Amino acid sequence: MPTPLPDVPCCLNGEFSRVCDAKVSVLDRGFLFGDGIYEVVPVYGRRLFRFDEHLARLARNLAKVRIPDPHPREQWLRLCRELVQRLAAQTGAEDQVVYIQVTRGVAPRDHAMPPDAVPTVFMMVNPMRPPTAEQRHHGVACVSARDFRWERADIKSTSLLGNVLARQLSADHGAAETILLRDGFLTEASSSNVWVVHEGALLGPPKSERLLEGIRVELLRELCEEVGIAYNLRPIPEADVRSADELLLSSATKEVLAVTRLDGEAVGHGALRGKPGPVYARLYEAYQRAKSRQSI
Ligand SMILES: Cc1ncc(COP(=O)(O)O)c(C=O)c1O
Repeated sequence: MPTPLPDVPCCLNGEFSRVCDAKVSVLDRGFLFGDGIYEVVPVYGRRLFRFDEHLARLARNLAKVRIPDPHPREQWLRLCRELVQRLAAQTGAEDQVVYIQVTRGVAPRDHAMPPDAVPTVFMMVNPMRPPTAEQRHHGVACVSARDFRWERADIKSTSLLGNVLARQLSADHGAAETILLRDGFLTEASSSNVWVVHEGALLGPPKSERLLEGIRVELLRELCEEVGIAYNLRPIPEADVRSADELLLSSATKEVLAVTRLDGEAVGHGALRGKPGPVYARLYEAYQRAKSRQSI
């Protein structure tokens, strides 16, 4: 039996419908070239978490690929809130995920950017599927791989084939994520940022074109400051990943999540080996407190 498609609300170029009924042209450049930008905004208690940060990243990414931003902030907010209310009315879901995708639009197939295409705006909303209680309690397993993606991983592009191939390497092993290393240094994971805890400090790779600037990169800086954990972005060699006291993932849906096995080896040292550690626990708690404070 094929997996049934979700029957959730969506909005295509301003028209609301069920996602299973929405249709785009086969000449849409999102379909032909993956020529588009996307954004994923978490929703807690029907309110959008760090909405302005997500919207600012959407605008920055659209500018990077020269797609005009189709809406002012108030319009984006209105559309997102409408989707959230529709899903809540349909399913009762309080915690949700809003997906936004803007492609360059429909045009005759040609690699060069069409001068007059109108961007296609697709949005949908799904109930949030947070990590399970088991994953929270025990942490998750990951595998590592060479980062074979293109060199503009900073662009939140819908061209995700590299990320899809990377993710499948872990899926094939029943693991939660694939942690990527380029030229011997940590970049990120297939759909998460990756953090190393060393001597009580949270370390992440520096901002660059090699990885996405996750919304949680700045959020974790703020949470570290709040709870008194040192935070530093600096190049992280593979050896530091493998000898970490703790390893963490962050993303819109994982929030922060402990990695307790990497390539079959337990992460960490001593009594905490293979278990979620104290830095994870403090950041997870701080994250839960931030939800109500930072949602609109
Ligand atoms: C490749 C990649 N890196 C990092 C992240 C984390 O970003 P955010 O915290 O904005 O969800 C994501 C999110 O999906 C991602 O796809």
